[in-house]
Amino acid sequence: MTHAIEVRNVYREFQQRSSLGRARGAVCAVDGVTFSVAAGDVLAVVGESGCGKSTLARLIMGLLPPSSGEILVDGRSLVCVDRRERARLIQPVFQDPFSSLNPRQRVRDIVGLPLASQGDLPKARQSDRVMEMLARVGISTEMAERLPGQLSGGQRQRVAIARALVLHPRIVVCDEPTSALDVSVQAQIINLLAELRRELGLTYLFISHNLAVVEHIATEVAVMYLGRIVEHAPTQDLFRQPMHPYTQALFASVLTPDPALGVPDVALGDAYPDPTNIPSGCRFHPRCPKAFSECPATEPDNIRKDGRLVECLLAVDNQTRADRGDGSVAHFQLDR
Ligand SMILES: Nc1ncnc2c1ncn2[C@@H]1O[C@H](COP(=O)(O)OP(=O)(O)OP(=O)(O)O)[C@@H](O)[C@H]1O
Ligand SMILES: [Mg+2]
Repeated sequence: MTHAIEVRNVYREFQQRSSLGRARGAVCAVDGVTFSVAAGDVLAVVGESGCGKSTLARLIMGLLPPSSGEILVDGRSLVCVDRRERARLIQPVFQDPFSSLNPRQRVRDIVGLPLASQGDLPKARQSDRVMEMLARVGISTEMAERLPGQLSGGQRQRVAIARALVLHPRIVVCDEPTSALDVSVQAQIINLLAELRRELGLTYLFISHNLAVVEHIATEVAVMYLGRIVEHAPTQDLFRQPMHPYTQALFASVLTPDPALGVPDVALGDAYPDPTNIPSGCRFHPRCPKAFSECPATEPDNIRKDGRLVECLLAVDNQTRADRGDGSVAHFQLDR
């Protein structure tokens, strides 16, 4: 079966500089990531600020080349797909509809621009397609004549969604699509995205800090920490039983009195580590409440348990240990 998105052992490094321009070292923002998303699924990517979510999104949209590894979209390697064709396959919806829409263009022109750049549809058909898409996202004919500044935040995000969908892409990358919006509007936009996915058979890569939203919309979830996916599981399984101590901490941090506040950064004692200096062994061990002697020495690479990816030595059960020929953590059981 062809996957909508396939990411194969992808790395992306950045050189970091101090404010004076001195080199501070390299950051591996995406550090050996492998996953695939089946057509029609929604993969949510969650994790603290700076863990590499947006870098991953930009790599998948072809806006940034990987340092190494390969990305396939709709079965085709991104390096073989030119910009014009890529726009028909995959489109973004970003966090901030205020800065992503040209303030001097009318809504109908903003949404029509991708069609005009493709240039393969007669003008009248382009206009029909724009109005069709605007109606689908709940923007009236009258609003189509307005400038972005004359719309509310929620309406602007609807326009951004119409622009993303007007070329009928198969995949949409949503990077925090509701976090700049009022809480009351967020649910409407999430429901719209869910409805559009069902109606148009879309696949989403969905980045969000809000775990309530993730539980609602995602079919599977990848948890990122310092550039790696440390847990990847179907949404229901992950929410019912988070296995990685980092996922458990992330979930615990949401249990605030007011869930509408979204997810604060994790309260794990130590601050988020310096990404130019990744801890040895398991990169989460300095903050992990369950770390043991093995953790600073052994990298928990590609550990699978019950059909899920869990990069934690505590998840190494007898079967995987036998497969790996590794007896060193025999006395540890996963805390259920
Ligand atoms: N263009 C760049 N140049 C240098 N470093 C970068 C660049 N883009 C990202 N980084 C670094 O890569 C790491 C991951 O950043 P990224 O923006 O992908 O995180 P994120 O998970 O999207 O965070 P947030 O939740 O705050 O949006 C960070 O350490 C960041 O400083
Ligand atoms: Mg980001």
